[in-house]
Amino acid sequence: MKIAFVGKGGSGKTTISALFIRYIASIGLPVIAIDADINQHLPEALGEKQAGRLNPMGAEITRIKEYVRGSNPRIPSSDVMIKTTPPGNGSRLITVTEQNPIYDYFALSFNGIRVMAAGPYAEDDLGTKCYHSKTGAVELFLNHLIDREREYVVTDMTAGADSFASGLFTRFDVTFIVVEPTLKSLGVYQQYKHYASNYGVTLKVVANKVEGAEDLSFIKDRVGSDYLTAFGLSRYVRQMEKGVIGDLSEVEAENIAALETMLKLVDEQKKDWHKFYRQAVEFHIKNAESWANAQLGTNVVSQIDPAFNMEDTVKAQVKLAFVSNNNKLISEQTSKGKEKLYVTDGYSRA
Ligand SMILES: Nc1ncnc2c1ncn2[C@@H]1O[C@H](COP(=O)(O)OP(=O)(O)OP(=O)(O)O)[C@@H](O)[C@H]1O
Ligand SMILES: [Mg+2]
Repeated sequence: MKIAFVGKGGSGKTTISALFIRYIASIGLPVIAIDADINQHLPEALGEKQAGRLNPMGAEITRIKEYVRGSNPRIPSSDVMIKTTPPGNGSRLITVTEQNPIYDYFALSFNGIRVMAAGPYAEDDLGTKCYHSKTGAVELFLNHLIDREREYVVTDMTAGADSFASGLFTRFDVTFIVVEPTLKSLGVYQQYKHYASNYGVTLKVVANKVEGAEDLSFIKDRVGSDYLTAFGLSRYVRQMEKGVIGDLSEVEAENIAALETMLKLVDEQKKDWHKFYRQAVEFHIKNAESWANAQLGTNVVSQIDPAFNMEDTVKAQVKLAFVSNNNKLISEQTSKGKEKLYVTDGYSRA
């Protein structure tokens, strides 16, 4: 499942995504953490001391392009590939738990978590559109990532409406919007909801820094059925700020309950690969028309492979990838007669 954390600056996106990621890992389930914010704080919040060793994805998007284009005949070189180029027949899809050159280069693994980062601004990027190309690397990666049930990719997103400039915000099964009990924070929620609702984004409100019933109803009254759960002011989080990443068992019971509710909601989502692919194509066409065709001097819409069926490919590739990774693949028929795939082994913990 692909999950995003969005919300106003300072609302607690990084804090809550870090807790959520650690909560998933503590259950023993595979999880990739992606820091897509400009200010890279997620690795630190996860307790990763060597965040400086992370190779930012945005700085070397070509590496990702080269890998995922595989032998797709519609993409003769990475030079004509853009962040929204969708997979087609011959493309390489990426699974959550496999080993591949992308993870080898861009991810650090620790405590059962794979961490990746879009990358911070470099000095000379300021004032240019480079930041979009940095989250573009994340978009490209997610477009080729075939996660299955009980496998998680959690992205800590940049705040603000500029994320709508790309298709990144449509790549998630669930988008958690972290909302503080303030009008400003609710304003960001309203704005996000307005935009995202045109794209069928599943948006759920996670209230944060809630002190008492009044704070809670202040949020609940304004978000209606989008409300999911709430975090109170946390001593544990205050300790995190001091560099002390305590054991998860030390997190307040009410806040653990909130994490549990969030994971349950995620697990209830149904994968819709057709929609996922259709929206990838939609944003690719938008990008083609608005800048890419003119800039590259070629019609990148021809990269869309009409014969490609994402859902079928996902099924076939997941089988292949896991078998080739020497994981044991177990196929079961569900009560509805559908095939369900299980793997006996996640990736090893570092
Ligand atoms: N539940 C909480 N209890 C106490 N402090 C909290 C809580 N949630 C977040 N904070 C504090 O609020 C501040 C902002 O949190 P955080 O950095 O997670 O927000 P953010 O939305 O990721 O911000 P940015 O937009 O800058 O990336 C931090 O100092 C954090 O420790
Ligand atoms: Mg943050």
